[in-house]
Amino acid sequence: MSNNIIDGKAIAAEIKKEIAAKVALMIDAEIEAPHLAAIIVGEDAASQTYVVSKEKACHDVGITSTIYRMPEKTTEKELLEMIEFLNQDPDIDGFIVQLPLPKHINADKIIEKINPDKDVDGFHPRNIGMMQLGLPTYLPATPFGIIELLKRSNVEVAGKHCVVLGRSNIVGTPISILLSRKSEYGNATVTLCHSLTQNLEEITKQADILIAAIGQPEFVKASMVKKGAVVIDVGIHRIDDSASEKGYHLVGDVDFEEVASVAGKITPVPGGVGPMTIVSLLQNTLLASKKRTRQ
Ligand code: GUN
Repeated sequence: MSNNIIDGKAIAAEIKKEIAAKVALMIDAEIEAPHLAAIIVGEDAASQTYVVSKEKACHDVGITSTIYRMPEKTTEKELLEMIEFLNQDPDIDGFIVQLPLPKHINADKIIEKINPDKDVDGFHPRNIGMMQLGLPTYLPATPFGIIELLKRSNVEVAGKHCVVLGRSNIVGTPISILLSRKSEYGNATVTLCHSLTQNLEEITKQADILIAAIGQPEFVKASMVKKGAVVIDVGIHRIDDSASEKGYHLVGDVDFEEVASVAGKITPVPGGVGPMTIVSLLQNTLLASKKRTRQ
């Protein structure tokens, strides 16, 4: 790989080894392996792919995983009952409800129902509040993965200008909170941009670290990036491609070809942030199981 590429796949593999070693120690001590459950409602293709990847990653490190598949027509009440069942199940350390949910289900109501101690996605309002206050909690998987990626690539963030594109509850908002906090890997000056931001290019060009999480294929062009900036691409989009065996290829929110020649460091898609999100979920599941075993 070219030397300015941040290899998320390799860094994730390193962390997976660390997690596998910790799980092996639990098993040696005759403590049950951590157990993650995922609920998926409906047939959204991307969600199916994510859940299968999460299951495989669990298997790789010795974490037990169970997927609960529910049909598209599942009612909000039925899903709330399933969550209550997992909240009560002592064999499940943590669980996630894969998003997006079908439109007839209120995602906020669902997330609020999850026992915060089992909310390994870190999406429950209590856990978001704790993150905001700098108290120990589960960090949302993608922001947690981005922080780990920056740390392990020796990117200094304190005092740097980080520009975040996109203010979703899953990525943009929490990463801007984490990087601006007065804490060990924070202290950055953060600008959070969104669809109504004016003079966007003027702002992105000031970024020492640019994080793209807007959900628009190849939106970030070389003209928007300062020479030497660190560019983190959170997007993942399937583009129809009859020349490819799968019938599609993947791109991010960043025009990789253009931006790689300007950036000091850049994450690819695939193989950048994606694998880090999954290992963060494994780390949170391990943490959840420590609460159970009080180690
Ligand atoms: N959909 C996209 N990203 C995520 C995630 O991190 N967790 C869940 N539950 N759903 C998602």
